[in-house]
Amino acid sequence: MKLLITGGAGFIGSNFVRHWLRAHPSDQIVNIDKLTYAGNRQNLEGVGAGHELVCEDICEANLEKYLEGVEAVFHFAAESHVDRSIDSAEVFVRTNVLGTERLLAAARRKRISRFVLISTDEVYGALGSAGECAEDAPLGPNSPYAASKAAADLLARSYGKTYQFPVLITRACNNYGPYQHPEKLIPLMTTNALRDIPLPVYGQGAQVREWIHVEDHCRGLEAVFRRGRPGEIYNLGTGSRLSNLEMVQTILRLLEKPASLIQFVADRPGHDFRYALDSGKARRELGWEPQIAFEAGLAETLRWYRDNRDWVESVRDDSYRQYYSQRYENREGYLRNL
Ligand code: DAU
Repeated sequence: MKLLITGGAGFIGSNFVRHWLRAHPSDQIVNIDKLTYAGNRQNLEGVGAGHELVCEDICEANLEKYLEGVEAVFHFAAESHVDRSIDSAEVFVRTNVLGTERLLAAARRKRISRFVLISTDEVYGALGSAGECAEDAPLGPNSPYAASKAAADLLARSYGKTYQFPVLITRACNNYGPYQHPEKLIPLMTTNALRDIPLPVYGQGAQVREWIHVEDHCRGLEAVFRRGRPGEIYNLGTGSRLSNLEMVQTILRLLEKPASLIQFVADRPGHDFRYALDSGKARRELGWEPQIAFEAGLAETLRWYRDNRDWVESVRDDSYRQYYSQRYENREGYLRNL
């Protein structure tokens, strides 16, 4: 079978390419990735012969050409970092909304038989201290990032309703695992702790996130592709929920580093308090279950960042340092040592 994957040089996409070709070595994958700061050829080292990386922007590429002979599309490509969307939202609208629309339109013209859109739990918005969101919960995206993902999610839905185009929408919780850019919570805190530099926890660290190992997410995406019903939405979560402070404390404990590295910094504007998914539908309809216990998966992930210093150094490049110095410019004395 031939698949088209977008954003397959990013964190979740590259893990998915690796997952797929391990399980189906004779399949072919065309991977369109713009290789922004968050995409990296190194993420795909050793993935095997069935994979072709095309360095193009989904907003500009001749997508129909790449869809030739393709049976299914997995659409990962997105600007994904909430803080960056707060600084500047335009590229989020362009890639996440316009890019998704172009891909849906091209895939429809080419009569693709399954289109899996990787959406996010952030489209539901923030919960208070109780409750969970099932797939029919109202959407209430709060950040520009979340709003752009909600727009993409709704566009995909509209293609299902209007054209009977076979879209499947997945909404996963926060992912962790190897190859995640260290702008995100777990790799940021881990790589800082390994260098004994401060860990910047927003506000009081009381916000709660639900965590899934990227490999469990990839298995869930394959289950949606194989057994999901076109037009449906599937939450992919684990129930492993921690406040950010608990997460950071767990990382420090596993790395045997002192809690004194924690530095509370200014909160994220409009910071969503809690996400929690009801993933019963995926379990019932797809027979999918996450397999990786949270603390074992986290410990293995921390080892990966410790053992892959070259990868970490290659992504903590000049643009990364510039981004952090701008974020924390003269504030809180944070990152003097970056
Ligand atoms: O929930 C799924 C979403 O998870 C995905 O759709 C997004 O693409 C992905 O970026 C992620 O969004 P979050 O905002 O939850 O992830 P992030 O790693 O940026 O932050 C996780 C939590 O940690 C959040 O409550 C903010 C907090 N945080 C984050 C950073 C980077 C800190 O306290 N300090 C930090 O330096």
